[in-house]
Amino acid sequence: MTGIANPVEIYNQLYAKSPDIETFEQAALTDASAATERTPPEDIYAPQAATLVQARPLTELETFYEIKLDSGLELGHEPGQFVEISVPGFGEAPISVSSSPTQRGTFQMVVRNVGNLTNALGKLVAGDRIGVRGPFGSEFPVHDVMKGKDILLICGGIGLVPVRSAINYVLDNREDYGHMTILYGAKTPADRIFADEQQDWSKRDRVSVLETVDDPDEGWQGHVGRITALLPLVLVVPENTIAVVCGPPVMYRFVLEELKKMGMSDDSIYLSLERRMKCGVGKCGHCQMNGVYVCQEGPVFQYSTIREVMEAI
Ligand SMILES: Cc1cc2nc3c(=O)[nH]c(=O)nc-3n(C[C@H](O)[C@H](O)[C@H](O)COP(=O)(O)OP(=O)(O)OC[C@H]3O[C@@H](n4cnc5c(N)ncnc54)[C@H](O)[C@@H]3O)c2cc1C
Ligand code: FES
Repeated sequence: MTGIANPVEIYNQLYAKSPDIETFEQAALTDASAATERTPPEDIYAPQAATLVQARPLTELETFYEIKLDSGLELGHEPGQFVEISVPGFGEAPISVSSSPTQRGTFQMVVRNVGNLTNALGKLVAGDRIGVRGPFGSEFPVHDVMKGKDILLICGGIGLVPVRSAINYVLDNREDYGHMTILYGAKTPADRIFADEQQDWSKRDRVSVLETVDDPDEGWQGHVGRITALLPLVLVVPENTIAVVCGPPVMYRFVLEELKKMGMSDDSIYLSLERRMKCGVGKCGHCQMNGVYVCQEGPVFQYSTIREVMEAI
């Protein structure tokens, strides 16, 4: 099956030859076309070596990472895009970039420890090396559609991770955008991520931040309940607003219903969707939703373009 790739298989072959990350990267670069006849000539499967500058726990399950490419080059991503992160011997996984491209020299991500790769990553510390492919996928339309508009960001759980890239991009180019409203929902107060940054954001010019949790603890004084309960609390001018939704799959249908009630058109709503991925570059088909390749056409979609796609929402 020419052109169909399984990068995990390729990584494991390379790792067997070169368990050290430096020689691993060299082998990856030189062997990218020779490792398997299914590998296309481009180096889209070859990871770049990178070093963890910071690795610190955010919650019980999530870890924050700051990463520097060993080449010294910028990652060159746009808000909303993802990278494929590899730990030699454990394969790789798609992870959103959480920092804004306006931050130079390093990039950031947050990883929830759920399985094989994320577990291996969770054991690494500052100074350890990883592999990075990408950036891949589509982006939040910060360069065109969002410009001059009010922005309504609706994030559940670690859905805030990719959206944070857009938030910081907008804050670094504040004069180009209208009011920014950030709605964030977490299961419990202990599950909240970037709580300090949310406070900082709320102090910025023309920014509102509202948070809610499903299950409060004794110290929680904020809103309680689903994120949809926050929507009636915000003032939205539908014809001048772009909404972005990112969170667990169950959230989308309910949020979309509320946005429709508020008068938002399907064209003005952008969704970031998560699907199981392998190659990340449109070759293996793992991420398909009825013919739509989420790794290439997404993960960010204008709602009107996927409204009719079965399995999308
Ligand atoms: C575009 C994109 C962006 C993402 N961004 C982030 C991010 O910023 N941070 C983050 O933490 N995660 C992110 N994810 C999710 C992340 O990629 C997965 O959690 C990761 O792939 C898990 O890899 P693993 O090897 O650690 O887990 P695995 O060992 O693959 O297992 C993960 C979990 O999925 C289950 N599972 C495994 N295979 C399947 C299958 N075929 N079908 C159903 N369930 C299965 C396992 O039982 C386990 O519970 C993103 C995913 C995508 C597609
Ligand atoms: S992940 Fe391979 S085609 Fe999308």
